[in-house]
Amino acid sequence: MFGLAPLPTLDSEEASGQFIATMDRSDVSSRVLCHQEEIEDGAAKGFYWRAASAVHSVFVVRAGAQFFGYVNACPHLGTPLEFLPDQFTTEDGSHILCSTHGAQFRIADGFCVSGPCKGERLRPASLQVDAEGHVVLLDLAY
Ligand code: FES
Repeated sequence: MFGLAPLPTLDSEEASGQFIATMDRSDVSSRVLCHQEEIEDGAAKGFYWRAASAVHSVFVVRAGAQFFGYVNACPHLGTPLEFLPDQFTTEDGSHILCSTHGAQFRIADGFCVSGPCKGERLRPASLQVDAEGHVVLLDLAY
């Protein structure tokens, strides 16, 4: 079951994040997104993939030694949060930022603290950092 509506304006070559692969969701149970060292503290990285005819996206935010994953869809209008590749956080790295209308979200739980969707939350995406430091997306149903 797809939990995220297709992002109609994105194509694999045009996606602003890192395109992963065309994959058959039924064949893949987990996916390595990147190595933890590729994301600086207070920064984030976006990932896109195509499944069937839809493009899906999540992003990973780092806060110290912790990594948090969210579906790349703002609760306000459902659009991707970043305007430029991997630009998901405020300048000081303290919050997640939606570039469209400036909503800000807590990194640890995706709760919106300001903006038009104040009080709503980003949808979490389950992650795991393995023993080698790879950030692994545990569920592709986003
Ligand atoms: S679409 Fe994110 S704040 Fe409006």
